[in-house]
Amino acid sequence: MPPEKPLLSVLNYGKKSIFPIWFMRQAGRYLPEYQLLRKKEPNFVKFCLNVELTVEAALQPLRRYNLDAAILFSDILMVPFGLGQPLRFEENKGPILSPVSIEHPPFFSAIEIMEERLKPVYESVSLLKKKIPKEVTLIGFAGAPWTVAAYMLEGTLSRDLRYVKSQAYTSPKKFERFLDYIVDATIQHVSRQIEAGAEVIQLFESWAGYIPTRFFEEWLIKPHQKIFSFLNKKFPGIPLISFCKGLGEKSALYVEQVSPAVFSFDETVSLQKAKNLPCVVQGNLDPTLLLKESETLFEETLSLLETFKDKPYIFNLSHGLLPQTDPDLVKKLVNFIRKFSIE
Ligand code: CP3
Repeated sequence: MPPEKPLLSVLNYGKKSIFPIWFMRQAGRYLPEYQLLRKKEPNFVKFCLNVELTVEAALQPLRRYNLDAAILFSDILMVPFGLGQPLRFEENKGPILSPVSIEHPPFFSAIEIMEERLKPVYESVSLLKKKIPKEVTLIGFAGAPWTVAAYMLEGTLSRDLRYVKSQAYTSPKKFERFLDYIVDATIQHVSRQIEAGAEVIQLFESWAGYIPTRFFEEWLIKPHQKIFSFLNKKFPGIPLISFCKGLGEKSALYVEQVSPAVFSFDETVSLQKAKNLPCVVQGNLDPTLLLKESETLFEETLSLLETFKDKPYIFNLSHGLLPQTDPDLVKKLVNFIRKFSIE
C-alpha cells in the first residue's frame, strides 16, 4: 500500500484524518529564496521553461511549511505562449502578450506545436513527482478558457475587460469558436500534465466574476462542461478542482451543471452556501489576512475549520498569496490548523 496522501484521501473517499492544506500561489514572489532563484533567470517565460528552476521553485514552500500539496510552478499564460503568441513579463506591469483579434486569430492550427514548445513544463511535472515527499499530492493546473481568452485578446491585465467583451458582443459566434479552440488547447495541456504524473488538476477561472449573466451559459458553463467531461472520461481517477473567482450566488448552479470534484470558493460565497454544495469544497481565507497578524486571521480560520469539520474540505485561500505576505505568518497559520482536532 502506498503511504496515504491526506489530500487524495479526502478527494477519493471523503475521509479526512487531518485538514489537507495548500495555498494558491504558495510558491513565488513573497519568498526570499524565490527572489534569489529568480535572479538566475530574469526572463520569466524562460524561467517557466527551465526544469531545474521550476522544480526548485515548487519545492521551496514545502521546505518551509507542512503542506499537503505541491503545485507545478508555471503560469496560465504558458498556453498562449505554447500556441505561438508572443509573451513577456515586465516588472511591476505583469504579463504583456501581443494581442490577437478573434477576426484574425493567427494560430488556429498551432495546438500540435504547443506540445513541443511546452515540453519542459511536462518534464518539470515528472521530476517534481519524483522529488516530493510520499504524503504530498502533486497538483497540475491550467487557466480556464474565459480567463485565458481575456488575456489573449486584452494583451495585459485589464480593469474592465473592454476588448474581450466588445469583440465577444460584436461577434458572438466567432468568440465561441475562439473559446472552443482554447478548450482544445487546455485539454491537451492538462492531459500531458496528467500523463507526466499530476495527481489532481486545478483550473483557474480567475475572471469568472466578470462574465455577464446573459452569457454565463456560453462563456463559462459550456466550455467548462467540455473540459470536465472529456477529462473525466479520459482520466477517471484524476480529481478536477474548479476555481471560479467572483461567482457568488451562481456557484450552486455552476456546481450542478459542471459537477467538478472540488469547487474552490472565494469570499463571494458564504460558508453556509459552500457547505451545502454537493461536492468537496476548498477555500476561502482572505489572503490579505496574511499580510499582518491579527485576531481576525485566527477567528476566520477557526470558523472555516468548525464549519467544515464534517464535510470533505481542503483548506485554502479565496485567491493567491499576495507578494507582501509574511512567510512566518503562513507558517504560524499552518501550525495553528494542524493543532485543530477533527475528533
Ligand atoms: O505556487 C504557485 O501557485 C505558483 C505557480 C503559478 C504562477 N502563476 C506563478 C507566477 C500559478 C498557479 C499562476 C497562475 C496565474 N497566473 C493566474 C491564476 C491565479 C490567479 O492568481 O488568479 C493568473 C491570472 C496568472 C497570470 C499572471 N502571471 C499575472 C497577472 C502575473 C503578474 C502578477 C503576479 O501575480 O505576479 C503573473 C506572473 C507570475 N506568475 C509570477 C509568478 C511567481 C511572478 C513572476 C515574477 O517572478 O516576477
